[in-house]
Amino acid sequence: MPINIAIDGPAGAGKSTAAKKLAENFGYIYVDTGAMYRAMALYFLRRGIDGADEAAVAAACGDVEISLDYKDGIQQIFLNGENVTGQIRAEEVGRMASLTSAYGPVRKKLVELQRALAGRRDVVMDGRDIGTAVLPDATLKVYLTAGSRVRAERRFKELEEKGVSCSLEEIEKDIIDRDYRDMHRELSPLCQAEDAILLDSSDMTLEEVVRELEELVEDAGTRGCCGC
Ligand code: DC
Repeated sequence: MPINIAIDGPAGAGKSTAAKKLAENFGYIYVDTGAMYRAMALYFLRRGIDGADEAAVAAACGDVEISLDYKDGIQQIFLNGENVTGQIRAEEVGRMASLTSAYGPVRKKLVELQRALAGRRDVVMDGRDIGTAVLPDATLKVYLTAGSRVRAERRFKELEEKGVSCSLEEIEKDIIDRDYRDMHRELSPLCQAEDAILLDSSDMTLEEVVRELEELVEDAGTRGCCGC
């Protein structure tokens, strides 16, 4: 049985950076499920589909094929065969992903792909519903969170480093809105699975988060019987 590590939590908690590092350290593949929702969202944006129009989004789902590949260990995401990895990080794509990920046909398509990947390979998979819905029998489930202000400050710093001018208040508001949508939707809302371990990274460095996760993975018995 492949080893499946599920990491869920709100936007900006540090899931992807920590999960990526963890996967690298253990030789597992890292699956960023948010990127899949973002790639679908990019398709809807390009087609001018209104994210609030559930019927239009559902109808367009049949025209979208999402797939993954790895280049030098880094996940590449393909939208109908086009590598869109570099185009899915814009704020408007994140907002559209948050809106359209609430719809059943979008989730169905991507959850199937996520389960197929985790059934074949040892994975660290991060998202919103991995422990609660996608991989209910995961080897280890972690709910990684942090306060909204801390998350906004991290995002602010990231954008500043890229030379993008932005307001901390606006970023925090966006984060709070997104949390609300992700936590209050009907289908697979973001919440901590009953058997998930809670990790609050508000006062932790990335290195501390990764160290803690490594210990949790080791404690979950993922090493061979001789510790190899
Ligand atoms: O993690 P992210 O910011 O890249 O995710 C973008 C959006 O996708 C997020 O607001 C909610 C949605 N999402 C989801 O519904 N389920 C997942 N497993 C991952 C992301």
